[in-house]
Amino acid sequence: MDKGTDLNDVEALHQRLDQLMRQQQELFDRLQQGQRHFQRLARSVWRVQEEERRRLARELHDGIGQNLTALIHQLGVVLAELPPDAGPARSRLEQARALNQATLEDTRALSRLLRPQILDDLGLDAALGWLARTFGENHELAVRLDLAPGLSSLDSDLSTLIFRVVQEALTNVVKHAAAHHADVILRIEHGWIVLAVSDDGRGCEPAAAMASGMLGRSSGIGGIRDRVQLFGGEFRMDAQPGCGCRIVLRLPPAENGGEQSA
Ligand SMILES: Nc1ncnc2c1ncn2[C@@H]1O[C@H](COP(=O)(O)OP(=O)(O)O)[C@@H](O)[C@H]1O
Ligand SMILES: [Mg+2]
Repeated sequence: MDKGTDLNDVEALHQRLDQLMRQQQELFDRLQQGQRHFQRLARSVWRVQEEERRRLARELHDGIGQNLTALIHQLGVVLAELPPDAGPARSRLEQARALNQATLEDTRALSRLLRPQILDDLGLDAALGWLARTFGENHELAVRLDLAPGLSSLDSDLSTLIFRVVQEALTNVVKHAAAHHADVILRIEHGWIVLAVSDDGRGCEPAAAMASGMLGRSSGIGGIRDRVQLFGGEFRMDAQPGCGCRIVLRLPPAENGGEQSA
């Protein structure tokens, strides 16, 4: 082989290599674009879901709730007007009023579960305070809150995400941990939001817990991890059987959330 042929081969190889690298870069760019597009879509679906919950919660509270309140009032008026000798009718009406009252309380509880109005009206710190009190009153779980100041000005999507994560984590503590105490710590570190929810319960195997839940189909641990990723954040679960459980997540500031990990 002469020298000229060798050089031509090397030159051709370089060109081919350049072409392959360009193609690889193009594919990589397209993959990144696709990932960003998917993240945006999934976040819109999640936002629509939350909006629907908000609408239903309002409808339950203001529509059905107010009708039940009016009904209770009217039953009270009829009861007051009954003659003293209307024994059986009075007891039936009193039963009807008690049933109405219980239905009203259930309706309000369901409305708050769907989307607590306090989150939209007063912001994340007030909503987390309400959540902690509710778990204390309903489940005898002592929840300690340690929250960074200024949370009420947080981006609305991030507030909703954090509220849902704490709600699910505390529900898990009640369902699975047999714990007496839970800690919710929320800090802002270099613009990133860091949330930790821990308990002193029986703990679990993190890999098995994380395996449950598919994107958008679960509000459990798997669902939390998927949603945190949609916001460009990181999620970790530290737990050992017998030693309590802790979930930690880090979320980037709102303006670049969701675009980072793509
Ligand atoms: N705080 C906790 N303490 C003990 N086990 C937990 C805790 N949180 C989650 N787990 C375990 O992880 C599993 C998955 O949790 P999750 O995805 O929320 O689903 P679910 O609550 O519907 O079972 C639970 O079934 C439980 O075994
Ligand atoms: Mg759960």
